[in-house]
Amino acid sequence: MSFRTTPSVDYVEDVSPGTGALAPRAWYATSDAQSLSLNGSWRFRLSATADAEDDSFAEEGYDAGDWAEVTVPGHWVLQGDGAFGSPIYTNHLYPFPVDPPHVPTENPTGDHVRVFDLPADWPADGGAVLRFDGVESCARVWLNGTELGEFKGSRLPHEFAVAELLKPAGNVLAVRVHQWSAGSYLEDQDQWWLPGIFRDVTLLHRPTGSVGDFFVHASYDHTTGEGTLRVDSDVDGRVSVPALDIDVATGEPVTVAVEPWSAETPKLYDGELVTAGERVPLRIGFRTVVLEDGLVKVNGRAILFKGVNRHEWHPEKGRALDLETMREDVLLMKRHNLNAVRTSHYPPQPAFLDLCDEYGLWVIDECDLETHGFTEQAWRDNPVDDDRWTPALLDRAARMVERDKNHPSIVFWSLGNEAGTGRGLTAMAEWIHGRDPERLVHYEGDWDCRDTDVYSRMYADHQEVERIGQNLDGGTLKRRELPFIQCEYGHAMGNGPGGIADYQQLFERYERLQGGFIWEWIDHGVTHPELGYAYGGDFGEELHDGNFVCDGLIFPDRTPSPGLVEYKKVIEPVRIDGDGADGTVRVTNAYDFGDLSHLRFEFSYQVDGFPTGAHTLAVPPLAPGESAEVKLPASAPDGDGAEVQWTVRALLAEDTPWAGEGHEVAWAQRTVASRAPLPAATGAGPTADGDRITLGPATFDARSGALRSIGGVDVTGLRLDVWRATTDNDEGASWQDDTRWGVLWRQLGLHRMRHRIEGVESDGDALVVRTRVAPAAREVGLRTVYRWTSDGTRVRLTVSVTPEGDWKVPLPRLGVRFGLPAEGTDSAAWYGSGGEAYPDTRAAARHLQWDASIEELQTPYVRPQENGARADVRWVELGGLRIDGAPEFWFSARRWTNEQLDAARHLTDLTPGDTVWVNLDHGQHGIGSQSCGPGPLPQYFLKAEPAEFSFVFSVAE
Ligand code: GAL
Repeated sequence: MSFRTTPSVDYVEDVSPGTGALAPRAWYATSDAQSLSLNGSWRFRLSATADAEDDSFAEEGYDAGDWAEVTVPGHWVLQGDGAFGSPIYTNHLYPFPVDPPHVPTENPTGDHVRVFDLPADWPADGGAVLRFDGVESCARVWLNGTELGEFKGSRLPHEFAVAELLKPAGNVLAVRVHQWSAGSYLEDQDQWWLPGIFRDVTLLHRPTGSVGDFFVHASYDHTTGEGTLRVDSDVDGRVSVPALDIDVATGEPVTVAVEPWSAETPKLYDGELVTAGERVPLRIGFRTVVLEDGLVKVNGRAILFKGVNRHEWHPEKGRALDLETMREDVLLMKRHNLNAVRTSHYPPQPAFLDLCDEYGLWVIDECDLETHGFTEQAWRDNPVDDDRWTPALLDRAARMVERDKNHPSIVFWSLGNEAGTGRGLTAMAEWIHGRDPERLVHYEGDWDCRDTDVYSRMYADHQEVERIGQNLDGGTLKRRELPFIQCEYGHAMGNGPGGIADYQQLFERYERLQGGFIWEWIDHGVTHPELGYAYGGDFGEELHDGNFVCDGLIFPDRTPSPGLVEYKKVIEPVRIDGDGADGTVRVTNAYDFGDLSHLRFEFSYQVDGFPTGAHTLAVPPLAPGESAEVKLPASAPDGDGAEVQWTVRALLAEDTPWAGEGHEVAWAQRTVASRAPLPAATGAGPTADGDRITLGPATFDARSGALRSIGGVDVTGLRLDVWRATTDNDEGASWQDDTRWGVLWRQLGLHRMRHRIEGVESDGDALVVRTRVAPAAREVGLRTVYRWTSDGTRVRLTVSVTPEGDWKVPLPRLGVRFGLPAEGTDSAAWYGSGGEAYPDTRAAARHLQWDASIEELQTPYVRPQENGARADVRWVELGGLRIDGAPEFWFSARRWTNEQLDAARHLTDLTPGDTVWVNLDHGQHGIGSQSCGPGPLPQYFLKAEPAEFSFVFSVAE
């Protein structure tokens, strides 16, 4: 006797892509055929296992009225206030045993039911198709009790023919979604695991004679200025483009003079594909992508990718993004000079690609494929090298290419990410090359470039990138003939990335280097009632990778981080060189296609950081790559001992679709006359009175030499400070075998330095406090002398630091810190860089007079860490004091100590106290990108070596 107690769920662990779905085809948002969105509120029931419930919920008449509800598109774990489970974050580890194709018995399964009526005017004839744009990770579908099939491939569309099953009213659409399936083994991207129907569900009417699949081929011949259009269509019809007087049959090529499409000049022509039963709007961009002379060329020109990796993310909706959020991403990218996006690591919602076509971004469209977790077992059993999985891989490749092939913005198809190497990948590449020879194939995981048209790497350090640029890197013959891109670099986790200006210089110096894509666009923080933004581990995950999921150029709420501001400056498309000493500057057009006629140039002098009025700089409309010497429009004002600088700004001359007139695209600033040295503050000597010493406006503790007040303002704890709350990039990633300074600093004890007072004495006019600053258990130390002088109204501190012992590490920071009463210290005004800057993240540091509240001086990295330093500060005023530096210094101020900042896990751990803590730093160590890439370059190290620096304190006027 045999029996079965549970419904069959064998399909969940079946390596095949699924059954029942229609062949993939071109995706389009609108046509004159009717459609019905099935987005909205669905009935929802969650089970703990795939087989807990039978199929009866899919039957007509089943009453799901007492079920919960979820919003589709959406992820159930982000709905229901925790009642539907929680998100899980892992980088590359599978959160289940690696036993392909098996998945855990504990397999959260969400049954979804939606009852719908057809609109009254829904045509009675023709066909109908039910389209799912994205379901994670495996779905089984029924309509009116009839099973349509089941599918995997979370970020890919699946269509089912349903005409025979539809009724005018009371249609019951039932979808069973399993969190885990064989498909999960192919979807091991570094992101939250988020089950659900997270993209649109749509019912499409298919009139008789409607459009099936179609392929728009629109090339551009840069030698003739002509474009050739041919639209291949499964269903014959006509193609019209009124602006070009085109009206041809499908399949028939036509060549006419056109304006080409590029990311800089995204010219789209509106057209239409008309078959007997349907009219589909087309947006056609003419461009030709080739690999020629070892370079990726579009329309005859080599291009330089100034790109970013974009995951789909919204802090409340996860990967269920709405159109406005997608548009915000594109607008932010355009406004920050980016020209390219890699859709890491899956095809995005189709609407995002429409936006890339429209606003102009080069796209690497990446397949929904990653098997990174197999690296834990030396890639044994990797699905991409196992023929049983090849149909699933080919299905994924086809669903991406067929869906997205009509987007001019896509220049590369990417096979996937971090999936090792194997026959399955080769099969995908062969299929893609055959289906779309007009685009190139990308994949980073195969350094021999067997299947690819570009040599792509991630996180290669500057030295290696330079060797690749020089063609000294060896490799297979095929690789040596290919151009190079960094598909990921500049790991933007927390504070950073540092060193991107140095990369950009290499990209611009060596022809073979065609740019790169910063990792990554947005922090995937999840809005959380207590924590602000949650990251890995905050939902009690058994395995997780902490805040490694927060490594974007924008914060979860899409506010640009300083990293994005830096990147914008580093990749600006206009270069302004020279100091203007000969009355001219050199302006270079660094665009690949556009001239400079869309920009106007504004020139101004600043005296002590104050602009003195703007002039126009007459820059000719240079062609791409051209430069010109441009005469400065005005001569420098007499600074009279003040510092004089000039600034050139390249601004949009007119509104564009992505930014308004006046938007700044590029800028440069130079110093014409330096500020006068700070006058010495001498004349008034220290006097002792009981437990107090007085020196000009300052009082000190007689025993310890500690500063107590200046001009009646209480000052606490002024002393040398070398510690900074380690950044993610200081700490580095655990797998990094290079030196990780953040780890060594802590081992050495730089976060718990002791200050031994050796002497408090007067030395002529000066009060001198001699100390030795050192960590317990170590012999290294910093002999530190504080020398105070005064002219009666101001007090000058000179700090001399002499390292002792064998310092094997650079210092995190070197300067002084002190506390001011929080009451009365709400804001600061300063002359120096406006935004956050560190030694290797200071390209965008613009020197002016600024002010900000203490809150605004903080950069809200999702995991708290060192942040907010302002560079090149000449003076700062806060809490009633003015502090002038000799030389310029780094300034930061916060309502908590660096130790509290260091200990915090979330911003909500930081609570203001009664003191504002100020750091005035002579030096800061570089930031680098070691949370996944290389650490800071040696030139940005803050070496432990003798140093001397001064601050002059006075009462602010
Ligand atoms: C790469 C990977 C990305 C991400 C990044 C680190 O190796 O492709 O998905 O994990 O590292 O944030």
